[in-house]
Amino acid sequence: MNKPVSNTDLADHRTLDDRKSAVNDTTRSALVSTMLTPRFYTTDFEEMDRINVEPVRVEWDALIAQMRSDPNQGHFKRNEEWDDVDLDALPADLREELIDFLVSSLTSEFSGCVLYKEMKRRGKNKEICELFGYMSRDESRHAGFINDALKDFGIGVNMGFLAKAKKYTYFKPKFIYYATYLSEKIGYARYITIFRHLEQHPEHRFHPIFKWFRQWCNDEFSHGEAFSLIIRSDPRLLRGRNKLWIKFFLLAVFATMYVRDHMRPAFHKALGVNIEDYDLRVFRLTSEISRQCFPLVLDLEHPALIEGFRRMERINRRMQAATERGGLSGRLGRAWWGLAAGANFLRMYMIPAKKNDLPATSRLQPVW
Ligand SMILES: [Fe+2]
Ligand SMILES: [Fe+2]
Repeated sequence: MNKPVSNTDLADHRTLDDRKSAVNDTTRSALVSTMLTPRFYTTDFEEMDRINVEPVRVEWDALIAQMRSDPNQGHFKRNEEWDDVDLDALPADLREELIDFLVSSLTSEFSGCVLYKEMKRRGKNKEICELFGYMSRDESRHAGFINDALKDFGIGVNMGFLAKAKKYTYFKPKFIYYATYLSEKIGYARYITIFRHLEQHPEHRFHPIFKWFRQWCNDEFSHGEAFSLIIRSDPRLLRGRNKLWIKFFLLAVFATMYVRDHMRPAFHKALGVNIEDYDLRVFRLTSEISRQCFPLVLDLEHPALIEGFRRMERINRRMQAATERGGLSGRLGRAWWGLAAGANFLRMYMIPAKKNDLPATSRLQPVW
């Protein structure tokens, strides 16, 4: 039975050292912070508290009412739809990549849960606290549901420990809005694209968790809607130098997904998807959705941009090889390929984006 992340999970008062010894390898792998692994964030909560939703009042009230009604209240529970898969029967590489997928999804769900919960705890702005309360409720269910799936492998993640021990990256509120908006919407696009694909090809559904993705993605969709309204509530977030930041986040989020997905070839083969096709489909959908609140979109039809993603993936493979090699040559290799990745990112960044005129309202229906 699925349990959301409880308050006791989050408020485990044993010392770090005590708990470190009780921590398993999966928790350790969720703790790793690299450019590619999901991060935990902290921000200036006082500034966030000053968000004023008046300019988007009508849409805001409708969204909050929908979140208050909690449409997914009973969804994250195992029922007869959860077929018992023989996890030992999965080929070793697929098993490993499935676990990696689950751990990384859990880390990002839980990262949202912790950030939103903290905002609710520290904030005084009633509107904002209510929103963040609903979002942390949802992310807590999502993380708990994935953790139960991991426990079937005998390797649940100790989330209380993770919340305490993981490194937190500080982002200014506006960067939190851009990055979190995108990660909610790309999360939606990933879940729905996999769900729709498996509806057509149920023979590729090698784990029951994918059956839960449809309602699941609606939560992510609403979370993204909330950030879209926050961004639209303050026109300064869409002007001047902030446009350069928006472009930066679009590119960084897409490039990270492209590289990370290519690190799981067996997982995508078992799903029956070509990684690049799948990723580009998700990028196009996310980009289309992001027209609701971003003044620009990347030119996803530009051949140099696609080539840039591919080059980033090749560079990442060389960087991994250097890391595995270790020693001085490994360190030099890493530094070299790190520079190459930076230069490649810059090249991709220079490709002109397309201007987008914001629609009159933010509201979208999840129809994909
Ligand atoms: Fe989530
Ligand atoms: Fe979410």
